[in-house]
Amino acid sequence: MTYSDEEIKDRLGKYGSVYLPEEIIESVDDILGNRVKKERLEDFFKALKKYEDMIEQLKKTKLNPNLTVLLYGPPGTGKTSLTRAFSKKYKIPICVVESDRLVSPLLGDTIKNIRNVVELSADIAEENGAFILFFDEIDAIGSERSNIHEVGEIKRAVISFLQVIDKINYEGVPLAIFGATNHQHQLDSAIWRRFTFHLKFDFPDYELRKTIIESFLKKIEDADIGVDDSIYDKLDIEIQKIQKIHRQLEAKLGREISEFDDNLLWNEVNKKSDINGLLKLTIGYSGSDIERGTRVALFKVIHTGIMTYNIFYNSLQLVGGTAVHVQTQDVLSASSRSERSSERYGNDTPKTSGPPEI
Ligand SMILES: Nc1ncnc2c1ncn2[C@@H]1O[C@H](COP(=O)(O)OP(=O)(O)O)[C@@H](O)[C@H]1O
Ligand SMILES: [Mg+2]
Repeated sequence: MTYSDEEIKDRLGKYGSVYLPEEIIESVDDILGNRVKKERLEDFFKALKKYEDMIEQLKKTKLNPNLTVLLYGPPGTGKTSLTRAFSKKYKIPICVVESDRLVSPLLGDTIKNIRNVVELSADIAEENGAFILFFDEIDAIGSERSNIHEVGEIKRAVISFLQVIDKINYEGVPLAIFGATNHQHQLDSAIWRRFTFHLKFDFPDYELRKTIIESFLKKIEDADIGVDDSIYDKLDIEIQKIQKIHRQLEAKLGREISEFDDNLLWNEVNKKSDINGLLKLTIGYSGSDIERGTRVALFKVIHTGIMTYNIFYNSLQLVGGTAVHVQTQDVLSASSRSERSSERYGNDTPKTSGPPEI
C-alpha cells in the first residue's frame, strides 16, 4: 500500500511539516558558499536515490550504511534550507519536525512520540521510496533544555531514539534521518555518535557575506527596483582593502588565518584603515540576518523608490547579527570563559564550538 500525499501530510502533520519536492521553493544554488558541504550532501542524496535498488545486496554485507546526517552550527546559516533544497533536487519528500514538540513532560509520551514519528516515516519510506525525516533542534531530545525534568526520563528518551534509528538502519529502509542543532555542546554525545555524517555550518566570512549581499541586491534589481550602484562600488573598495590587509597579516604571521581567528584580522584592519562599510558591519551576521536586513531595507524602498547605500546599511544595522546573541548566551552559560570574550561581538564570535568530546 503506497501512501498518498494527503495521507502523508495528514499522518505526519501532527509532528511536523511535510514538504513535497514540488512545494519546495529554495534551490541548492540559493544557499551560497558551503561548497564542501554541498559536495557531501550531493553524494549522500545520490546514494539515497540508489539505496533501494541496492538494499538486498547491502543487507548481505551486514554493513548497511547508516543513513544519518547531523548538521550543526549557529542559527540562520542554511541547515534547514540546504537540506530542503536537496530534497527538491533529488525529488525526495521531507518531514521537518521541531524536536521540542515531541518532548512531553508526561512520562512515556516523549518516547511514544519519537517512536511514532520514526516508525511512520520508515513505513512511508518502505512503501513509497526514499523519505527524509529532519529533526530540527535535535538537542531538545535528551538535553536538560528539554522540558523533561527527570534525568531517568531524559536517558530513556535518548535510548529509545537510538534504538529506533538502529532498527531502521538494520532493516535497510530508505529513510534518511537528519538532525540539526545550534547547541552541539548540549547534544547528548550518544546521539552525536550515532550520526554517520557531521556537517558543520558557520557564519559566512567577509567574502561570502559580499556574495550573499550582492545576490540579494540582484534579486531586487531583477524585480525592476532600483539599486544605487554606489553600494556595489563601496563593497568592492571595502573588500579590496580587507583582502590586502589580510594578505599582509598572513605574510607577517607566516600562516593562514580566518576572519574569525581571535579577531586578529579585524584588529589589524581597524589599526590600518578607516573601513566602516557593510562587510565590517556584518561580522557575525548569518545569511539569514542579511536576508532579514534586506527585507527591512526593501520596506523602506517601497516609499523611497530606490535602494541607497544608507538605507541598506541602516537596515542591516537595525536587525543586528546573530553572533551577538549566540555569544551572550555562551557567556552566560560558560563560566570558564574569560572576560575578553565579552568585549565586542567581532571578538570571538563565530568560534562555533567544535563537536563535543566523544
Ligand atoms: N549561505 C547562504 N546563502 C544565502 N542565503 C543564506 C545562506 N545562509 C542562510 N541564508 C538565508 O537564511 C535563510 C534561513 O536559513 P535556515 O536554513 O533556516 O538556517 P538554519 O536552519 O541554519 O537555522 C535561508 O533560507 C536563506 O535565505
Ligand atoms: Mg533551521
